[in-house]
Amino acid sequence: MTDFSVKTLLLVDDEAVLVLSLKSILEQHGYRVIFALTGEDAVGLARSEPQIDLVLMDIELGAEMDGIEAAKRILSFRELPVLFLSGYMDRDISEKIDTISSCGYVVKNSGDDVLITSMRQALKLHESRQDLVRQRTRYLTLLESIPDSVYVLDREWRYAMVNDAAVHFMGIPREKLLGNRLVDLFPLDKNTPFGEAFKSVMNSGIPDMITAEFDFEDGRKGWCEVRVTPVPEGILCITRDITERKNFEISLQRNEEKFRTMIDWTYDWELWVDPGGDIVYMSPAALRITGYSTDEFMAKPQLIKDIIHEDDRGMWDDHYRCHGDQTCGDYELEFRIVTKDESVRWISHICQAVFGEDGQFLGRRASNRDITELKKSEKEKEEVQKQLAQAQKMEAIGTLAGGLAHDFNNVLGAMRGSLEIIASYLEKEQLQNEEKISKYLDTALKSTVRATDIIRQLLVMSRREEKNPVPMDVMSSLEHIQRIAQNSFPKSVSLEFPVAGDHLYIHADRTQIEQALLNICVNASHSMTIMRGEGEDEGGVLSVKTGRIKPGTDFINSHNGANGEINYVIISVADTGVGMDSETIKKIFEPFFTTKEHIAGTGLGLSMTYSIITAHQGFIDVESQKGSGSIFTVYLPELTLKGSKKNAVKQESAKPLRGEGCILVIDDEPSILDVAREFLAQLGYTVIVAEGAVAGLETFRDRHHEISGVLLDLSMPNMSGSEVFKKLKSINPGVKVLLASGFANDRRVKKILDAGAGAFISKPFNIIDLSKKIREILG
Ligand SMILES: Nc1ncnc2c1ncn2[C@@H]1O[C@H](COP(=O)(O)OP(=O)(O)OP(=O)(O)O)[C@@H](O)[C@H]1O
Ligand SMILES: [Mg+2]
Repeated sequence: MTDFSVKTLLLVDDEAVLVLSLKSILEQHGYRVIFALTGEDAVGLARSEPQIDLVLMDIELGAEMDGIEAAKRILSFRELPVLFLSGYMDRDISEKIDTISSCGYVVKNSGDDVLITSMRQALKLHESRQDLVRQRTRYLTLLESIPDSVYVLDREWRYAMVNDAAVHFMGIPREKLLGNRLVDLFPLDKNTPFGEAFKSVMNSGIPDMITAEFDFEDGRKGWCEVRVTPVPEGILCITRDITERKNFEISLQRNEEKFRTMIDWTYDWELWVDPGGDIVYMSPAALRITGYSTDEFMAKPQLIKDIIHEDDRGMWDDHYRCHGDQTCGDYELEFRIVTKDESVRWISHICQAVFGEDGQFLGRRASNRDITELKKSEKEKEEVQKQLAQAQKMEAIGTLAGGLAHDFNNVLGAMRGSLEIIASYLEKEQLQNEEKISKYLDTALKSTVRATDIIRQLLVMSRREEKNPVPMDVMSSLEHIQRIAQNSFPKSVSLEFPVAGDHLYIHADRTQIEQALLNICVNASHSMTIMRGEGEDEGGVLSVKTGRIKPGTDFINSHNGANGEINYVIISVADTGVGMDSETIKKIFEPFFTTKEHIAGTGLGLSMTYSIITAHQGFIDVESQKGSGSIFTVYLPELTLKGSKKNAVKQESAKPLRGEGCILVIDDEPSILDVAREFLAQLGYTVIVAEGAVAGLETFRDRHHEISGVLLDLSMPNMSGSEVFKKLKSINPGVKVLLASGFANDRRVKKILDAGAGAFISKPFNIIDLSKKIREILG
């Protein structure tokens, strides 16, 4: 087996003795030696022997073929280093050797060392040459195979080297390019962007790279990128056609511009946060919604959390915990933010995890919508619905209470009347236990008065109480309330009432309005005194303020039935008392709702106030928080007074007015008949009573000539009041009738009054009222 690490020498010499001795010397130095004694044999061996590293060739090989000829032939088919051996060296030999690519010569007998050293150098030289050839081949293959055009310009601007791609790129044959000047081949203007770079690199020696538009030889317009590098002979230029890449970049850029424009102009505040919490993108809508610019958010991503309203932070933190977790799905939540100008806005937040095409988690993308206006209108809607529900509830309770009150009124009327009659008899009689009887009578009378009062409240609440609207000044009513408050509220409650000055006119029932406002003030006083917890200091400030408002959209939207055409008078009552939680606020206007069981609150105060205010087309708002006091705000339609401000409510006499004539009383309630008979008799009238409609009509038919007037109950079984009235009229068209009913706002009353009845009295009546009304009809 051939050992390739051992160098093989082909020794060629015609002297066999010399060959053998040299062979042995060379083998001693570790070489493998094959030999030939003639030039022909040497050529043959060179053909047949695959491993030959060096040929040691004697120049004089006899007559047929000398060593130089033999070497020439070998080198014609095989590249091998040849070291010539010669007995001597003269000019002739030296010239011959120079004609072939040899690796030198050695004079025979120069000694073994010289020979060995020369051989080694010849082998090394050959290897270097081989290396160089290999490198050059590699370099050329590389140069010609790359698609970029590569060329070298010398300092005279001549093409010193061009590759195939350059030839193709410039569309000029290689022969025409090489040795010719750039400026002669291409007009300068065509190369301007590149020419400038070429010059600058040529002069400065600093590499450069430029990209410019380019008109190609085939007429195309495109883009080129040229790298210019200084080399010893001038500059090396590598030109690449980047038209495709550039077009791609341009379309990419346009696409990005398109998407960025689209997203930058989104109405919502768009956001993309990477898994580490850094903001990748934020739309400029951030500024409109939060007051902070995207740059401010980019510089401080924590700002997103900082602007969350403190009450919603817990919820946000819970949500944010899932931020870096790619398994967290879509998330929707609503929270408030505090904007740069410190206003509060509602945000609807939707976010989702986002992934790249390769499935890599890229963070979360969120869309934030400003829903402040929506929230506001939802709240207003809720408010209006609450008001509607409240109104309906009050209506239902009112109907019920009104019905009860009506029946109760009759009973009460009889009781009260009877008691008054007993009292009047008592004055005339001398009784044994007069004092005691008087005392109990008084108690019984007071109780009926109190019961009447409660019934009245119920009737007010159910809106069946007669209303007597007059033009009135809220300021003077407040003065009245202030006086009552000063006299009756504990001294620990300090009162702040508006200073009289401005007038605020409304068209209202003064007594009812004062009652309504007083109820609110009494509650306010209670909230700072008796409602305080055990051990808490009593007292606080009750502050009443007034004003007027021209209703805007907000007011109209949140107050069902508000009239945008008029002004409303505002009366607000604020206290620094115990306040209410939201559950209590929901119930305060309900009749009989009270938290003052221990101090006998009836729970009718505010329901009455509510009824009065709404019956006057007004509104009540309540703001309160447990522990922080309450504010009740009443709105009533303002009355614009034209001409004289006449709100004079006649001062009526407190004495019963006596009269004469015969009065027929028609009622189905015997007790009422008794009372009426007694009252009228005391007033000086002759009285006929008839129980029920049928009896009443019969009596009237028989005795109408002597009857001056009729007291007629409206609510009787079998026949309605209006029917009875019609029949009375048919008997005597000039009949004078006083209608009586427990329902002040009974629509029938108005109808009958319009049809010619003289007046109306609400039940239960007292003797004074009755005396006046009877006078009124009799004229
Ligand atoms: N200013 C206020 N501060 C705290 N709580 C109040 C205030 N006003 C009303 N309330 C609450 O509303 C409830 C109902 O009030 P409302 O005036 O209808 O009845 P009341 O005061 O309890 O009894 P009444 O007025 O019939 O004597 C009260 O019991 C109280 O709990
Ligand atoms: Mg009250």
